[in-house]
Amino acid sequence: MATRVFFRKVSQKLRGFAATWLNNEQYPWVRRPPPHTPHGSPLRAAEVTRLPAAAIQLQHRPCGERAYSQQVRTVTLIPGDGIGPEISDSIVKVFEAANAPIQWEERQVTAIRGHSGNWMIPSDAKESMERNLIGLKGPLKTPIAAGHPSMNLLLRKTFDLYANVRPCASIEGYKTLYSDVDLVTIRENTEGEYSGIEHVIVDGVVQSIKLITDTASRRIAEYAFEYARANKRSTVTAVHKANIMRMSDGLFLRKCREVAENYRDIEFTEMFLDTVCLNMVQDPTKFDVLVMPNLYGDILSDLCAGLIGGLGVTPSGNIGTGGVAIFESVHGTAPDIAGKDLANPTALLLSAVLMLRHMQLQEFARRIEAACFDTIRDGKVVTGDLGGHSKCSEFTEEICRRVKDL
Ligand SMILES: NC(=O)c1ccc[n+]([C@@H]2O[C@H](COP(=O)([O-])OP(=O)(O)OC[C@H]3O[C@@H](n4cnc5c(N)ncnc54)[C@H](O)[C@@H]3O)[C@@H](O)[C@H]2O)c1
Repeated sequence: MATRVFFRKVSQKLRGFAATWLNNEQYPWVRRPPPHTPHGSPLRAAEVTRLPAAAIQLQHRPCGERAYSQQVRTVTLIPGDGIGPEISDSIVKVFEAANAPIQWEERQVTAIRGHSGNWMIPSDAKESMERNLIGLKGPLKTPIAAGHPSMNLLLRKTFDLYANVRPCASIEGYKTLYSDVDLVTIRENTEGEYSGIEHVIVDGVVQSIKLITDTASRRIAEYAFEYARANKRSTVTAVHKANIMRMSDGLFLRKCREVAENYRDIEFTEMFLDTVCLNMVQDPTKFDVLVMPNLYGDILSDLCAGLIGGLGVTPSGNIGTGGVAIFESVHGTAPDIAGKDLANPTALLLSAVLMLRHMQLQEFARRIEAACFDTIRDGKVVTGDLGGHSKCSEFTEEICRRVKDL
């Protein structure tokens, strides 16, 4: 009897969940059953499925066609909180020293609540991003208040930043346990375990939904192969657990396999997540480009950052639909050292280098990256976290001095 009641409750909850999910604006491309008009006649399928072209086409072809000339381009700069303004200031100075054809449009981002109760980013920041398409972002603090959204999640949702790209390459002069690491993690950023669909079924039983769609899986797989091709990388590895999550990861893997068929010039391999973790810490040089669903990407990208020295030196880019891309440092606001001129701006600077490459400004990217790496290799003027005694401003001046000579 108790079992029957339990299953009835579970079934009611699941029906409730299905209703919520099908109304979820977060997944507009998900096919839903046609709602009925007040007169009982179904709406036309075209009106209700709303499968936006943007969701099924690859919007950004990384480093593909020459989309940008060397005329001055405006980029939205979100300095962020804590050490954000100090490290952003450092990037602005290095870009000036390199004569990079970028002008900055600075915007602050805090979560605000709209009339409908939804959290959103300030309209001037949203408009700036929509106008400029490219953004560079420092760390943002997430207030520990009930119901307050993660700022990074909010940005991801606002601009449908579906691909998180993190190149991890060993930095000469910054010794870690590993040398010769040179790999890229590409993480699906919009769904999977982070779809935000969680509920209590009955007291003591909680369910969290991992959502995997055909469209998002294909989109991220296409991005990974385009990235590999454009960056002259030889292998894409799909990371999954389709042996356990046969349907969800199975779908992700199937889409990767299908996409791989169109990229015969790139080798395609597939590996279980646990095997990747094991092999990664044994010999990371075995890996090239890795593509994976959201949660695996979150964890594995941090693990890979650890191989080269941590989040303080790891760049990151988020690619969205409609040509939007936001490049960011992935470390936090470092409140313990904020305002003390002690922060290391490398992660944000290397993210800005990634941004320049994305904008086809290869030569500026090369010079700035070289000046940064030369400074670190030399080891005389580096910040505390890199084993030195210099301030953020001194490290920045050193990079500026070098970039002018390159
Ligand atoms: N991408 C983001 O915007 C992002 C990421 C993580 C955390 N956060 C936010 O940052 C705040 C603080 O988080 P936390 O303390 O857990 O992590 P944190 O990354 O801010 O700090 C962890 C440690 O690393 C050091 N550190 C981080 N970046 C550094 C840099 N560039 N140079 C030198 N040292 C650096 C800090 O001094 C601290 O000791 C929280 O509000 C959190 O929500 C934001």
